[in-house]
Amino acid sequence: MRIDVVSLFPEFVAQCAAFGVVGRAVERGLLSIHGTNPRDFAEGNYRRVDDRPFGGGPGMVMLIEPLRRALDAARRAGEGPSRVVYMSPQGRRLDQAGVRRLAAEPRLIVLCGRYEGVDERLIRAEVDEEVSIGDYVLSGGELPAAVLVDAIARLQDGVLNDTESAQQDSFEDGLLDCPHYTRPVEHDLGRVPDVLLSGDHARIARWRRMQSLGRTAARRPDLLDGRELSKADRELLQA
Ligand code: ADE
Repeated sequence: MRIDVVSLFPEFVAQCAAFGVVGRAVERGLLSIHGTNPRDFAEGNYRRVDDRPFGGGPGMVMLIEPLRRALDAARRAGEGPSRVVYMSPQGRRLDQAGVRRLAAEPRLIVLCGRYEGVDERLIRAEVDEEVSIGDYVLSGGELPAAVLVDAIARLQDGVLNDTESAQQDSFEDGLLDCPHYTRPVEHDLGRVPDVLLSGDHARIARWRRMQSLGRTAARRPDLLDGRELSKADRELLQA
């Protein structure tokens, strides 16, 4: 998969590629991340990329033309059509299903705004979807883009090994993850639950499912709203 990031600070997002699982995806040639800077497409001595908002008010708005040229350059840099995603708090909130959908695209162009945002006409003409990473405001789209790139990278085939399998992640089945423990068994912070030492795989799987269900009900009941639980899950939740 190829991801082009259009940003005034493209190195910021490309940094992801230096570490951990995203780094591995890039090393293995399963993902490539490229930056395009709208400032390189701006005109005049000052290479302006923003201007004051019509109607007044605080902050600046990113100009159409440098962004449009940067998007065109990013489009031409890869092969085939590409979905354009704009990181914005006005977007649809990202969840694991959304990540899966975007991870299946062969190409993505991720547009990052700064200042108060981007001229609405550019969004209407060029953007396929707006994506938010949560109900809070960051000073630019670069951190959200890095979040998206990380979540997408780990879902590319061949990136995670068996022990890291994404199947077992939180949210893959719409529930929160169960708690995890490692050595030592005894510690002054507590003891590892006996069931995990039992070697009884069916019992362990049941316990983990019960923990996932219990945590989800306690911490994120919204995830269970409108969800039809199996009889086995209902019994575990009651246990
Ligand atoms: N840009 C600024 N805040 C954002 C957010 N919460 N999600 C996505 N992009 C953003």
